[in-house]
Amino acid sequence: MARFATIDDLDISGKRVLLRADLNVPMKNGAVADAMRIARLAPTIIELADKGARVVVMSHLGRPEGRPDPRYSLHPILPVLRAALGERRLRFAGDCVGATASDAVAALKPGEILLLENTRFHPGEEANDSDFAKELAALGDLYVNDAFSVSHRAHASTEGVGHFLPAAAGRLMQAELDALNRALEHPKRPSIAIVGGAKVSTKLDLLTNLLRKIDVLVIGGAMANTLFAAQGIGIGVSLYEREMVSTARDILAAAKADGRTLLLPVDAVVARRLEPGMANEIVPIDQVPRDRMILDIGPRTVAAIAAQLAASFTLVWNGPLGAFETEPFQEGTLAVARAAAALTREGKLVSVAGGGDTVAALAMAGVTEDFTYVSAAGGAFLEWLEGRELPGVAVLMKRGPQPKKKT
Ligand code: 3PG
Repeated sequence: MARFATIDDLDISGKRVLLRADLNVPMKNGAVADAMRIARLAPTIIELADKGARVVVMSHLGRPEGRPDPRYSLHPILPVLRAALGERRLRFAGDCVGATASDAVAALKPGEILLLENTRFHPGEEANDSDFAKELAALGDLYVNDAFSVSHRAHASTEGVGHFLPAAAGRLMQAELDALNRALEHPKRPSIAIVGGAKVSTKLDLLTNLLRKIDVLVIGGAMANTLFAAQGIGIGVSLYEREMVSTARDILAAAKADGRTLLLPVDAVVARRLEPGMANEIVPIDQVPRDRMILDIGPRTVAAIAAQLAASFTLVWNGPLGAFETEPFQEGTLAVARAAAALTREGKLVSVAGGGDTVAALAMAGVTEDFTYVSAAGGAFLEWLEGRELPGVAVLMKRGPQPKKKT
């Protein structure tokens, strides 16, 4: 398999390193509400700066639709980024191209860091306009992409720039790609995938790809209801996708034809409505009352998944197994998270998880640190699970590792 270049392949001392970060962090009242992405990015900036690079950081924030909009300025991120970078000097440029940016870059000394204003303030960013990419590229001698979470976008700062400068993955991107490859491309087998969430329709390509690559597929959450409907199993008033029933039949047939083990819930927690504290009961999956909805997996299903996990060496997980945000329907998801975490701690399982809800569920279970790797990427993680080539990653591989240049 083609290998991507990393910082180790570049001679960076004294160079201007144009670093694509993903500082698209949740903001509340003009301040950073969750600094996880900043904390994960900081080691790459620190390494580059401490190796004597002039580090020029670019990122998007939100979707300002190609024009400056103060609501999406990266300026409020400065204090949090500064705190993560310790003593190192961090400045800000009020534009990512033009004289504002080039003057600020020219003033940088080795070991100093510059944060550029939101790349999406220019229409050329999302259009991947080659002139705009060239303007960005003119700000660096080398390009490092540390933004796996936005590498499914073929934008100027994630893809275009890579055609004009020697390109490499930053440490966060490197860790993410290594973890993902270890989980899906070169897993220790048997391997297991857990897929949950509401809709089959949004995860069709993902299920098809996983069925090709893993040994055991667990499906839970409301998407399992559509598979039950496809088998003529009564699901009461549960959410399901009527128009996806025939597709669900194809998935069941494909799993069988490929000799995969498909594990669907065997029991469920049901209630009249999805409301906090609703009275509920546990029923076998073929005995869901007509006026009840399935809101979580039951204890027999948890035990069956735990047994499969114990018999596997590699886990990929995306999507909760029940309505985990509403008490008390989180129990199944949390119990499976804890089982996977325990096996990982014991060194028996490589566990990789990603997606917004999954990350939240693992945090709720208190096991984020126990998993081998938890991806902070949402859409990019899903596209990777679908087996798609991510443009921002592909551009790091095209020319392979760059030879170290002596200056
Ligand atoms: C994310 O937060 O998932 C990435 O930064 C991508 O953002 P986007 O969906 O606005 O492109």
